[in-house]
Amino acid sequence: MQLNLYLLAVGILSAICPVNGKASSNSSLSHWLYTSDIDKEALTLLEHPEIQGIQNLYSWKSLEPQRGQYDFSAIENDLNQTRSKGKQLWVQIQDRSFSIENNPVPRYLHKSIYNNGSVPQCDGDDCDSDFVAGGWATAQWNSHVRERFQSLLKALAAKFDGKVYGFNLPETAIEVQSNNNATGYTCQAYFEGTLDNARYAAEVFHRSYAVQYVNFWPCGWANENNYLSDSFQFFADHGVGIGGPDNIPFKQTMENNAYPYMSEYRNKVPINVVAVQEPDLAAINPNTSKPFTKDEFTSFAEKQLGSKILFWALSSPWLHQ
Ligand SMILES: *[C@@H]1O[C@H](CO)[C@@H](O)[C@H](O)[C@H]1NC(C)=O
Ligand SMILES: *[C@@H]1O[C@H](CO)[C@@H](O)[C@H](O)[C@H]1NC(C)=O
Ligand SMILES: *[C@@H]1O[C@H](CO)[C@@H](O)[C@H](O)[C@H]1NC(C)=O
Ligand SMILES: *[C@@H]1O[C@H](CO)[C@@H](O)[C@H](O)[C@H]1NC(C)=O
Ligand SMILES: *[C@@H]1O[C@H](CO)[C@@H](O)[C@H](O)[C@H]1NC(C)=O
Repeated sequence: MQLNLYLLAVGILSAICPVNGKASSNSSLSHWLYTSDIDKEALTLLEHPEIQGIQNLYSWKSLEPQRGQYDFSAIENDLNQTRSKGKQLWVQIQDRSFSIENNPVPRYLHKSIYNNGSVPQCDGDDCDSDFVAGGWATAQWNSHVRERFQSLLKALAAKFDGKVYGFNLPETAIEVQSNNNATGYTCQAYFEGTLDNARYAAEVFHRSYAVQYVNFWPCGWANENNYLSDSFQFFADHGVGIGGPDNIPFKQTMENNAYPYMSEYRNKVPINVVAVQEPDLAAINPNTSKPFTKDEFTSFAEKQLGSKILFWALSSPWLHQ
């Protein structure tokens, strides 16, 4: 009887409190999905017994259609749908894009005080000599933009803290024109603006994890300017979780950048997560001359990087076997 009451209480508690606090635990890695739209396919894959939840992307523009007027119905709806399957939701706010037709910031930011809110990102082979605009990056180096962005984070936390499992800001890599005074961009201002947003996210989310993805820093290749070491230390000092968009076992460019820091800081931050996105699935393991297997991806994320969550693209072969 005692035991049954205890089990009942634990059951109720875990139903009410989907997030078990922010303390780092040594439990092993769990598998989640990653997508930019929770559609029928995603909902079906969410039923896979090994899958614990889903990370979905939301653009700033979609969440704040008018200045200070938020529309969180998409997140609410996704939360309802994932919960109805007994799974968790993780939110990524997308403040950049990889298509010039898709500007991720709300229209009201298209003013000079905000440097238009966003600036073109390069999508070419040699961005220094041939800048081909292939998307947008939000001008987070502009303090007026950051003030609006942090207002959004505050509103999101007021509604979803403790309801979504985690929240993350996207990767640090951007390619914008640096010799253009009109945008106000400098590597240092971008670096500081990114850290400021991450700190703020961890300040407003108390029960859900707040994570910053780091892959490469502009002007920070292989820890130039100490951007890698300083940023990871900053996240440890401010309770910001860490993560990355690409889990590619032993990939040299990543080993030269964020991977060693993810490993080193695994137990110094609230959580460490990583994704296997579509291009990662195509990467070839030089030892086998074949794409990496589920076990190879998983083992690398868990043992080398120290990640607790692995977000898989919906097209990951093992989900369809
Ligand atoms: C978790 O891992 C850390 C670092 O490896 C270790 O110091 C700690 O004792 C572990 N905690 C538990 C509960 O196993
Ligand atoms: C989500 O579920 C809650 C509680 O059941 C309900 O009040 C709300 O209207 C739902 N929201 C959406 C967008 O479906
Ligand atoms: C940017 O401004 C500085 C001084 O304010 C000036 O020397 C430089 O030529 C400007 N660069 C461009 C690309 O306009
Ligand atoms: C802002 O947008 C206007 C109109 O599209 C454009 O003329 C101007 O160059 C842009 N400014 C910056 C800083 O990109
Ligand atoms: C390939 O095998 C070598 C030797 O076992 C190992 O050090 C290396 O990490 C492996 N590379 C990958 C990508 O798994």
